[in-house]
Amino acid sequence: MKTVLSVASEVAPLIKTGGLADVTGALPGAMRPEGWRLVTLLPGYPAVMKALKSPRVVRRERACFGGGAQVLAGRAAGLDLLVLDAPHLYERAGSIYLGPDGKDWPDNAERFAALSWVAARLAAEGFEDVKPQVLHAHDWQGGLAPVYLGAMKGGRDVGTLLTVHNIAFHGLAPASKLAALKLPKDGFTPDGFEYWGKISALKGGLIAADRISTVSPTYARELMTPEFGMGLDGVLRQRAGDLTGILNGIDEDLWNPAADPEIVPYRTPAGKAKNRRALLREFGLEDGAGPLCVVVSRLTEQKGLDLLLGALDVLAARGGRLALLGSGSPDLETAWREAAARLPGVAVRIGYDEALAHRMMGGADAILVPSRFEPCGLTQLYGLRYGAVPLVADTGGLADTVIDANAAAMAMGVATGVKFAPVEADPLRFALSRLCDLHADRKTFTTLQRNAMKQPVGWAASAPQYAALYDRIGGRV
Ligand code: ADP
Ligand code: GLC
Repeated sequence: MKTVLSVASEVAPLIKTGGLADVTGALPGAMRPEGWRLVTLLPGYPAVMKALKSPRVVRRERACFGGGAQVLAGRAAGLDLLVLDAPHLYERAGSIYLGPDGKDWPDNAERFAALSWVAARLAAEGFEDVKPQVLHAHDWQGGLAPVYLGAMKGGRDVGTLLTVHNIAFHGLAPASKLAALKLPKDGFTPDGFEYWGKISALKGGLIAADRISTVSPTYARELMTPEFGMGLDGVLRQRAGDLTGILNGIDEDLWNPAADPEIVPYRTPAGKAKNRRALLREFGLEDGAGPLCVVVSRLTEQKGLDLLLGALDVLAARGGRLALLGSGSPDLETAWREAAARLPGVAVRIGYDEALAHRMMGGADAILVPSRFEPCGLTQLYGLRYGAVPLVADTGGLADTVIDANAAAMAMGVATGVKFAPVEADPLRFALSRLCDLHADRKTFTTLQRNAMKQPVGWAASAPQYAALYDRIGGRV
């Protein structure tokens, strides 16, 4: 079987801070029927070391960015894994990216350069009689892998793909770390991995990889514009011919309203009623005449939830309810706690809770995703599958996965949600008001929910697209 070495900083269900993990965790299963086996290299965080079953040592590195390390092979959660066991880099309590002060770990550049460097070695030299055809790196944490690989013996036989899940994070490091990061000095130019006097892991990967993909067609287009490219739009325009947008899917077994252990299972919108009552109870909300809306999200600038704070009055006036689950920026956490204290129709859980996320999808009439940018977004896909009608900003993957309930789409029977643009307070207020109108007409709303639940949101369409990409770049071995 043809093999891809996938390299990522998080992989669900082992270690997750966001959608990246869901995707790197689901892709191996989705690609197997396509004839591609994915082996995933990830850092040996404590949770990963604990989960790894009967590991085998496949490689030792005496000097691995500040300490000794080894690469372990094994399985966990149904995945074929390679784990970089480097206690000096990964054996830390708390968040995988942030120290106890809430700031990036000061050696993040070394931590993920090490991951990328080891990925390149494993790709160039193979492991346990496997020689991968493709190295697939994810985001800036894997960005340097194609850079290292290009300079290694045997490296040019392996095709490379870099997937951008979020261009907001570049993996910048000061130029003084060039030697410590084992980077060639001659690559430190504007045509290489230099970004305004700094090392940029993401830019390095964008230039060195054979092909670049991102997680929706619309985000692929947006990335080439100054508004969304976050300073790398020029590089992406240069590489327009090698850039593809492939939509994320969700794990349809894990997110299945007909067999979800967290809810009373259902197959039709009517079956949501019990879950809706349970959700209102769980959040301490009294029912009203309007829709029960939910948000499940990281609380960051990207997600536009500050705008939603300013639109809550529209929902309140129509008897709508809002239950929010999220964590992130302390300012947003406080603002949402205050909103919940002020408004009887709003309830908030600050924290991270997978099981609760399932119950929210099960009980909600609608899910709100007013992101300023959204490379793909997964929660609107969960919403579609669970008949929680998505109200979304018309951007990135949200634009590609939701069909607005305009007159034509309603007449054709294809509408699945509500979209708004530009991502500002007034259009969002208007969208909420439209959602309430749609909800007020029971028949219309049930039709929307039914359409949503029928929409394909798995990997069936995207897996063959990745396979075609792998075939194209991996044809050299
Ligand atoms: P991003 O990766 O930008 O955070 P996505 O929509 O792609 O956005 O993925 C977010 C993932 O993280 C989803 O699986 C979502 O359910 C999950 N998630 C986010 N915040 C929470 C939370 N507070 N509790 C549980 N799950 C969460
Ligand atoms: C990023 C994006 C999100 C996307 C996820 C998985 O975290 O913010 O839109 O769904 O990656 O690709």
